[in-house]
Amino acid sequence: MDGKTWLKVAIFLCLFALSTGRELKVKAKNKHHAAIYNHTLATILVQYASAVYVSDLTELFTWTCSRCNDLTKGFQILELIVDVQRCLQAFVGVAEDLNAIVIAFRGTQESSLQNWIEDLYWKQLDISYPGMEGAMVHHGFYSAYHNTSLRPGVLSAVKRAKDLYGNIQIIVTGHSMGGAMAAFCGLDLTVHLGCQNISVMTFGQPRVGNAAFVSYYRERVPNTIRITNRHDIVPHLPPYYHYFPHKTYQILKLQVWLYDLGFGSLVYTVEKVCDNSGEDPSCSRSVSGNSIKDHLRYFGVKLSCDISAGCRIVMDNNLAAYHTADSEGNIIFSRNISSVLRMNVESSEEGRSL
Ligand SMILES: *[C@@H]1O[C@H](CO)[C@@H](O)[C@H](O)[C@H]1NC(C)=O
Ligand SMILES: *[C@@H]1O[C@H](CO)[C@@H](O)[C@H](O)[C@H]1NC(C)=O
Ligand SMILES: *[C@@H]1O[C@H](CO)[C@@H](O)[C@H](O)[C@H]1NC(C)=O
Ligand SMILES: *[C@@H]1O[C@H](CO)[C@@H](O)[C@H](O)[C@H]1NC(C)=O
Repeated sequence: MDGKTWLKVAIFLCLFALSTGRELKVKAKNKHHAAIYNHTLATILVQYASAVYVSDLTELFTWTCSRCNDLTKGFQILELIVDVQRCLQAFVGVAEDLNAIVIAFRGTQESSLQNWIEDLYWKQLDISYPGMEGAMVHHGFYSAYHNTSLRPGVLSAVKRAKDLYGNIQIIVTGHSMGGAMAAFCGLDLTVHLGCQNISVMTFGQPRVGNAAFVSYYRERVPNTIRITNRHDIVPHLPPYYHYFPHKTYQILKLQVWLYDLGFGSLVYTVEKVCDNSGEDPSCSRSVSGNSIKDHLRYFGVKLSCDISAGCRIVMDNNLAAYHTADSEGNIIFSRNISSVLRMNVESSEEGRSL
């Protein structure tokens, strides 16, 4: 190695030493049970947040899509809900290896992302969150979860799962607008279904409500982590005005910010667990949010549709047995939970006989 390379290595090692402290799984200081960032879990959940974008509903429902094949292997969907008009998609299923129910929400289509982002700049806090004095949220995100076929589909699947598994852990995830919906869902399951074991982890989530809403949310869903990537523009939106902290949107909960450290070929990614204020100025707010590219890939995983041409749905007749549609033409595929269990038994018996 020549002198220059040594210098690079030395700088890298210094940076590494300085930053490893930040990489530790820091326990957030909080009077409620703390959210603890778990890198492994994040890399698993980002794959669920990616899979929910898949447009081939057969591959998705049977969990045979190419995005369903890595760290999420063996997942079984109980309910897949597609809101055709609004182009929304979510699923609820059983992840045996996590010993949890996983719920994932899809974000906005890539083809309309530019408009969606421009729109977010001007978003007002425009609807009161029911049951909480002074809590204001973003109408669009709120109604995407609360006023569509997604909520009844999710609630029905969670009820069925709770009947069978009792107080099993429920993990809610989503990317972009799907992250905002994940937050509303986590709160809803806590408040309306009395679920006590809810974790929410989101990727590239926009802000969803004002300070009153955020403190209401934190009380009820303390185990929430919002992961933001480098210069991703969306976590900066709608904008935060620190002169008017009570009139402006705030970040929900513990933020983990991914950013690059180093030079040239010696770049590595730091995962910074931010302070618990939600608006830690040394996290994503320390840089300008100007990148859509950083929004579409987290932990190297693609978070957008595989077909760029809008909201296309692909499915075949094999799904007919699971299919129901509501009066507006929205699609729900539902699997009887007792058949999920039966399949589990079958597959583990196969495994044993090999
Ligand atoms: C992190 O999550 C993974 C996957 O759920 C789990 O196996 C592991 O035990 C967790 N680590 C800690 C320190 O909790
Ligand atoms: C819910 O949707 C209906 C019809 O789509 C609409 O009339 C109503 O205003 C919506 N309510 C909210 C709170 O968004
Ligand atoms: C949460 O779920 C885990 C895994 O199913 C379980 O072991 C734990 O007891 C649950 N915790 C609570 C507070 O219900
Ligand atoms: C689920 O399957 C079981 C056994 O096959 C059956 O008794 C039950 O009625 C089914 N439930 C639904 C909701 O289809």
